Amino acid sequence: MVDLTLDTDHVPDVAEDGVWLSCIECNETYAPFDDVIYECDACGGLLEARYADYATFDDFAGEGVWRYADALPVSGSVSIDEGNTPLYEVPGIAEEVGVADLRVKHEGMNPTGSFKDRGMTVGVRVAERLGVGRLVCASTGNTSAALAAYGARANMETLVLLPAGKVAAGKLAQAGLHGATILEVDGNFDDCLDIVSELAEMGEAYLLNSLNPFRLEGQKTIGLEMLEQSTAATGEWPDRIVLPVGNAGNTAALHKAFRELVAAGAMDEDEVPMLTGVQAEGAAPMVEAIENDYDEVRGWDDVETRATAIRIGKPVNAPKALPAIRQTGGTAVAVSDDEITDAQRALAEDGIGVEPASAASVAGLRKLRENGVIEDDERVVCLTTGHLLKDPDAAAAAGGEPTPVPNDVEGVLDVL
Ligand code: F0G
Repeated sequence: MVDLTLDTDHVPDVAEDGVWLSCIECNETYAPFDDVIYECDACGGLLEARYADYATFDDFAGEGVWRYADALPVSGSVSIDEGNTPLYEVPGIAEEVGVADLRVKHEGMNPTGSFKDRGMTVGVRVAERLGVGRLVCASTGNTSAALAAYGARANMETLVLLPAGKVAAGKLAQAGLHGATILEVDGNFDDCLDIVSELAEMGEAYLLNSLNPFRLEGQKTIGLEMLEQSTAATGEWPDRIVLPVGNAGNTAALHKAFRELVAAGAMDEDEVPMLTGVQAEGAAPMVEAIENDYDEVRGWDDVETRATAIRIGKPVNAPKALPAIRQTGGTAVAVSDDEITDAQRALAEDGIGVEPASAASVAGLRKLRENGVIEDDERVVCLTTGHLLKDPDAAAAAGGEPTPVPNDVEGVLDVL
């Protein structure tokens, strides 16, 4: 397994403004803003941003993602006030699952309704700095909505490739209204990602999927913000974070946030929350790898789930996310579509509206409580990644039916 300990003693010559890119497999280093690069030229491994100095809590000031500017690779921003999302109490679910403390960090409260905005505010700024002309992503929906909005904000041409017929209505509408060119591919998300990766390699467009290491830098702020909010609310950090997994970008990004705090001396290794991934049963290659102790994830060709956001068979960030789960003492679990919908209803009963993929986190928590993996004394945060209105059809199917009534008070009272 790759060693993800951050070296704080040595700054390579390629560093610019104290930032460089490093291959997680072979440790080859690259200048961050000279050439467009997504994977290691030497071995094809995933890259991540590294810093001469890692920021601590004292360095943070202001609000939202850019509160954490000292932990980010660029200055300046393409911002529409992303981040600063609520860490909710959920009384109904908390009583049911009975852990020491339970909170839900609702990333659906970002400007375009998902956590993707945190990555795009950083990634699109890097694109500006690199001077690229056109932005591109493959998407199950949310990435395309965020890229379209941030691309519009930066006045850049934006192209999105989506699996035909498998993207929720809200997300498609967002990408269209913000002016992206939308191409529907007769294939799944993994096929779309293959195509956009090739376009990016050809220099046709700048890739803003989570393969792009700068996007994950923005998503790191979920972890930093969650720790600060937990301290303010309870005086303690969570023991465990339960999150939905698709491409496993967030799993990698949260781990990166905590590894940097460890490198900065702001967190002890044994204080890093246990990262616990949840996938839908019909798209669960990460769970399969954790359960079977595989060295690497074996991609699935055929995937299906009602939680279309995580309908992904080949999680590109698996080489980062598998060690993240294992090194933090976390785990991974698969849940059925019906369990996801039940969890979506349970969150709704606590007043929190999420899309199906997000509810997977709560479905996973329930399952891991039932089978005794999550213990009574744990402080848990579930990450809900996207807003209810992203997928109005799924919400309508999970919720109650309207009752037709005549146009008078008696008719209404009859029903009551
Ligand atoms: N939840 C939602 C609502 C998502 O949209 C995604 C990913 C995930 C969870 C999974 O996050 O990839 O970091 O493990 N959506 C991508 C997209 C694939 O195209 O919008 P991950």
